[in-house]
Amino acid sequence: MDWTGKVVLITGASSGIGRGLALKLARRGAKLGLIARRNELLQEIAGEISAENKNAGVLSMPVDVQDANAMRAAGLRLSSTFGRVDVLIANAGTGVTNSGAEFDAARLSAVINVNVIGAANSVAAVLPEMLARGKGQLVVISSLAAYRGLPKSAAYCASKAGVSAMFESLRLDLGPRGIDVTIIHPGFIKTALTAGRKARLPWLMEVDEAAKKILGAIEKRKKSYAFPWQLAALVRLGMIMPNSMYDWLSRRNSLRE
Ligand SMILES: NC(=O)c1ccc[n+]([C@@H]2O[C@H](COP(=O)([O-])OP(=O)(O)OC[C@H]3O[C@@H](n4cnc5c(N)ncnc54)[C@H](OP(=O)(O)O)[C@@H]3O)[C@@H](O)[C@H]2O)c1
Repeated sequence: MDWTGKVVLITGASSGIGRGLALKLARRGAKLGLIARRNELLQEIAGEISAENKNAGVLSMPVDVQDANAMRAAGLRLSSTFGRVDVLIANAGTGVTNSGAEFDAARLSAVINVNVIGAANSVAAVLPEMLARGKGQLVVISSLAAYRGLPKSAAYCASKAGVSAMFESLRLDLGPRGIDVTIIHPGFIKTALTAGRKARLPWLMEVDEAAKKILGAIEKRKKSYAFPWQLAALVRLGMIMPNSMYDWLSRRNSLRE
């Protein structure tokens, strides 16, 4: 796939995976709309991109993905600046660690609002124009945590299972309308989200390598892509395990301290 001139909207572009994807896509000639709340970081990335290539097209838009109106306005601004939006990468996300014994519905709601409603707002920001053109690709950065419940991760697992199911439904409906949907399920990546975790994070991957793999899956228009393969294989094994065995193994190998 040739990214030259492709217009890509990336949410959660101020750090981690989103930042890594933005820098790589800019080098490949894509025009970018960058969304996150921390404008100073977006400006820094836009500056870095422009310093590498004076003709790079990059638009920083400090928006909270929870704000549906602001997201729609950002989608329209990007398409009016560069003519269209070819690809959405709904990457903005957050997580909390807390034991079920300290279950807090308000905290769960806050995670769902970013990881699910924020992704829905991101789709709504670009979908009408994609439907009108009969062309486009919607990508979501979900997680391997979408497949089964993990210890101390009720909010995160619920949000990722929800967003994966949402995009899978969209894939069924939108494929015949010319819009591809790609669901990415990463394992552990070295970002602010995993920083400071004391638990052992198996097959922890650098952002650069993860971004390379994610772009490869987008280019191939994969329906779903889980990586690294070793952890993805274990997660798939977990899906066919009897519940009693799954519970025993998961409790022994909690990935959150
Ligand atoms: N790191 C991992 O191991 C891992 C594994 C699987 C999946 N993921 C997923 O990958 C995605 C990116 O996470 P990351 O690991 O790169 O962590 P990160 O460095 O913390 O990045 C999160 C990004 O989301 C943005 N964001 C958070 N809340 C937002 C909001 N309300 N509105 C707009 N932007 C918001 C943040 O920007 P601002 O704070 O500036 O708004 C930041 O740019 C997430 O969806 C995460 O669940 C990560």
